[in-house]
Amino acid sequence: MAIETHFPLAIYIEDLPDAQNHQSKLLEAVWALESEEAQKRNFEGRAWTGDIHGVGQVHQDPRFAWLVGQVEQHTQQYLRELGLALEGVDLYIQRAWPVISRFGEEVGPHSHLTAHVSAVYYVSVPYSGSDESGCLVFLNDSRQNEVSPGLGLENTELFTEWNGLNQDQAAYAPTEGRLIIFPAKQRHAVATNETDDARVSVSFDILLTAKPGAASYEFLAPPPAMWKAFSESPCQPVPE
Ligand SMILES: [Fe+2]
Repeated sequence: MAIETHFPLAIYIEDLPDAQNHQSKLLEAVWALESEEAQKRNFEGRAWTGDIHGVGQVHQDPRFAWLVGQVEQHTQQYLRELGLALEGVDLYIQRAWPVISRFGEEVGPHSHLTAHVSAVYYVSVPYSGSDESGCLVFLNDSRQNEVSPGLGLENTELFTEWNGLNQDQAAYAPTEGRLIIFPAKQRHAVATNETDDARVSVSFDILLTAKPGAASYEFLAPPPAMWKAFSESPCQPVPE
């Protein structure tokens, strides 16, 4: 007998070798950014995420320049591994924001549907490499092998074992200095930080567009330089 598996989800992992040298400056910048935004918008039990607190453009902030360079380099490597011809593609960081998760805080299931590739870098992690500080969990929505819908739900108790063929999620323990890159559309969540210290990470959303003159406009957005913003709308609201 043979069972072969196909269609793997590709998660890129790199432990950045000089992470230690940049940790304190990155942390200093993240704490400063959080303190500058006084109004707390996240719900109780949810991590502080910069993108909903007006801190969604740290890729433009010189304090994050080293990290931005690493994300650019490794995203290209990731896409090359996926077989992409980068010669026909331009890459943009669209958004980048810090995430601070304190005791009891999590990030609910979501995907980054306005981007193509997403990345997360762990700046500071209590008990680095352990599950306690909140795993990044990728959720298997395709469930190719779930032969009857719902079989894999927890309350069915119909599986004798969880293995690679019925796996409904993949969890990565947060690890200091680690960069993880994945398809932005892949649904994921972040488990609760069960430790007393804060976990600090930075998330990135990356977009692909066609290079000028490329023949791929049907499948990629044309270069942003070719776009035209709407003129001011001629249809003014009717005064009350
Ligand atoms: Fe996310």
